[in-house]
Amino acid sequence: MHTTTVATLVPFLVFIILVPMSVSDSNTILQCLSLNSEPSHPISELTYFPNTSSYSPILNSYIRNLRFNSSTTPKPIFILTPTHISHIQASIICCKKFNLEIRIRSGGHDYDGLSYVSQSPFIVLDMFLLRSVVIDLKNETLWVESGATVGEVYYKIAEKSKVHGFPAGVCPTVGVGGHFSGGGYGNMMRKFGLSVDNILDAKIVDVDGRVLDRVSMGEDVFWAIRGGGGASFGVIVSWKIKLVSVPEIVTVFRVEKTLEQGGGEIVHQWQHVADKVHDGLFIRVVVSSTKRKGVNTVKAKFNALFLGNAHELLDVMNERFPELGLVGDQCIEMSWIDSVLFWYNYPVGTSSDILLERHSSTEKFLKRKSDYVKKPISKVEFDGIWKKMIELGKVTLTFNPYGGKMSEISEVETPFPHRAGNIYKIQYSVNWKEEGNDVANQYLDRIRKLYDYMTPYVSKSPRSSYLNYRDVDLGVNGDRNVGYEEASIWGKKYFKGNFDRLVEVKTAIDPSNFFRYEQSIPSLASKSSIMAE
Ligand SMILES: Cc1cc2nc3c(=O)[nH]c(=O)nc-3n(C[C@H](O)[C@H](O)[C@H](O)COP(=O)(O)OP(=O)(O)OC[C@H]3O[C@@H](n4cnc5c(N)ncnc54)[C@H](O)[C@@H]3O)c2cc1C
Ligand SMILES: *[C@@H]1O[C@H](CO)[C@@H](O)[C@H](O)[C@H]1NC(C)=O
Ligand SMILES: *[C@@H]1O[C@H](CO)[C@@H](O)[C@H](O)[C@H]1NC(C)=O
Ligand SMILES: *[C@@H]1O[C@H](CO)[C@@H](O)[C@H](O)[C@H]1NC(C)=O
Repeated sequence: MHTTTVATLVPFLVFIILVPMSVSDSNTILQCLSLNSEPSHPISELTYFPNTSSYSPILNSYIRNLRFNSSTTPKPIFILTPTHISHIQASIICCKKFNLEIRIRSGGHDYDGLSYVSQSPFIVLDMFLLRSVVIDLKNETLWVESGATVGEVYYKIAEKSKVHGFPAGVCPTVGVGGHFSGGGYGNMMRKFGLSVDNILDAKIVDVDGRVLDRVSMGEDVFWAIRGGGGASFGVIVSWKIKLVSVPEIVTVFRVEKTLEQGGGEIVHQWQHVADKVHDGLFIRVVVSSTKRKGVNTVKAKFNALFLGNAHELLDVMNERFPELGLVGDQCIEMSWIDSVLFWYNYPVGTSSDILLERHSSTEKFLKRKSDYVKKPISKVEFDGIWKKMIELGKVTLTFNPYGGKMSEISEVETPFPHRAGNIYKIQYSVNWKEEGNDVANQYLDRIRKLYDYMTPYVSKSPRSSYLNYRDVDLGVNGDRNVGYEEASIWGKKYFKGNFDRLVEVKTAIDPSNFFRYEQSIPSLASKSSIMAE
C-alpha cells in the first residue's frame, strides 16, 4: 500500500505495531469478551492470540492474495471466529474499550487485503464459522450467514430446485459478507441485476452492539449496506435473498480467437452487441497477451451463458453476432448449476460437490483495477491497446457487458451507481508466482501503465470503479480518519452521487467512526470532533 500520510507517521506506527500487547492487557480483553458474550457459548475457545498454534493457520487460510501473506504484513492482535451473535457484540464492545480496530473478514477475497490487514493495532473478526444457508423454496427466499460462500448458496439452491438460481459472482469461493455488501455481479446480471438488487432483508450488529434487521436499521442503512461496503456501517451477520427463476436447461460456450484469427475485429464488434442483445445472454470477453507459435499476440476468449437452449442461442447469435461464427458443436447444454462449474473452468461432468470446497490450491500474488466503458472503442484505438498489452507482457483485461436489467435500475436505487449508459466494465488483472518486492513492483507498474494508457477510452469525471474490485491506488489511504474531501476522491469513483448519501448514513449510524479502514465511508461527526480537539 502506498501512501503519503502513513510515511509521516511511520516512527509512531512502528512503535505501536511492534510493541506486543502485554499479557495482562490480553487477559483483560479476554475478560471483557467473556463478560459481554453468552456464557453458554464460551468465547475464549474462539479467540486466537499469536501464542496459539491455530493463529497462523486460521489467519492464512482466508488470505486470497499472497502479497498479504508475508512475514512483514501487519498481523492482528488476535483473531476471533464467532459462532454466536453475542461474540460479534462482545468484539465490538471490547475493541472500542481497548481502542483496537476491527477488520471483518468473510471470504477474504478483498483484492487489497483490507479485511485482514491494518497499519493500526487491530483484530480480525473472522466470520467463516457463521455460514448457515437456510432455503425457503415455497417463498423463493433464502437466509445466508456472512461466512458462507456463493458456491455454497448455489449448491444449496440446486440441491432443492432445478429451476432456481441466484445472480452473484462467478468465483464460488467469494464470501457473501463482502460480496453482497459491495454489489455482487455475475453472468446473470443482464437478466436479474446484481446480488444487491435481490436482497430482501439483513441482520447487522452496529457500533453499540445492537442487532438490527431491515425494519429496525431503517431504509437508509439497509440501502447503504447493499453496495456501499458493509464494513463502514457494522458487522453483517446474514442476508435474506430472493431466488430467481432459471430454465432447467441453459447453454454455455467458450470460443477463443487470436489477433491472427480476427479476434481484434470480433472484440470491436462485440461492443455493439453485448449490452443490447437478449438479456438472457451474457458474453464475457477475456483478453490477454500471449505467445502463439513463437509470436507475441493477443488472445480473446469469449465465455457465454445463455438462459435457454442451444437452438435458441444459435438463432440469437446468427442474427446478432455472426462475426463470432458460433456453431452448434461449440454450444453445450447443461443445468444451471453445471454452468456455474463450467464458468469456473471445471471440466464438464465435475460434481457440484466441488462448490463446497473453500480453499484453492493455487494462490497467487495479484493486483486488480477496474474501469467502465460508455462509448465503443474504435478499431484503431483497439490496435493501440493490443500493441500496448503485447509490449507490457502478461496482463489481462476482462470485459463484462452491461445493459438489460442493469439499465432499468436507477443509479440511486442502491449505492452501486454504474447502471444505464455503461456498455461494459473492464477488469484489469495481473497475477504472478515469484516472491519479492522488486518483482511485485514490476507487475504493479505494468498494470498501472495499462490503466494509464486506457484513460482516453473509459468513463471520466469521475473515472468510475467497482467497489468489489478494491483498488487502494484510487486515492489517499492509510489515515483512517480522513475527511470528506480525501475520501471523496475514491468515493465518487465507486459511488458517484451516492457517496454523499453514504456519508450521511455513516454519520448517523457510526458517528465516532469506529468501523474504519483505508476506504471506509467517513463520518462528518468524527471529522468535526477531531478538528475541534
Ligand atoms: C478470485 C476472485 C473472483 C471474484 N469474482 C467476482 C465476481 O465474479 N463478481 C464480483 O462481483 N466480484 C468478484 N470478486 C470480488 C469480490 O466480490 C470482492 O472481493 C468481495 O468483497 C469479496 O467478499 P469476501 O467476503 O470474500 O471478502 P472479504 O475480504 O472478507 O471482505 C471484503 C470487504 O467486505 C468487508 N466485509 C466482509 N464481511 C463483512 C461482514 N460480514 N460485515 C461487514 N463487512 C464485511 C471486509 O471488511 C472488506 O472490507 C472476486 C474476487 C476474487 C478474489
Ligand atoms: C496466550 O496468550 C493469552 C493472552 O495473553 C493468555 O491468556 C494465554 O494463557 C496464552 N496461552 C498460552 C498457551 O500461552
Ligand atoms: C502463507 O505463509 C505461510 C507462513 O509463511 C505459509 O506456511 C503458507 O504456505 C503461505 N501460503 C501460501 C498459499 O503460500
Ligand atoms: C412464506 O409463505 C407463507 C405462505 O406460503 C407465509 O405464510 C409465510 O409468512 C411466508 N414466510 C416468510 C418468512 O416470508
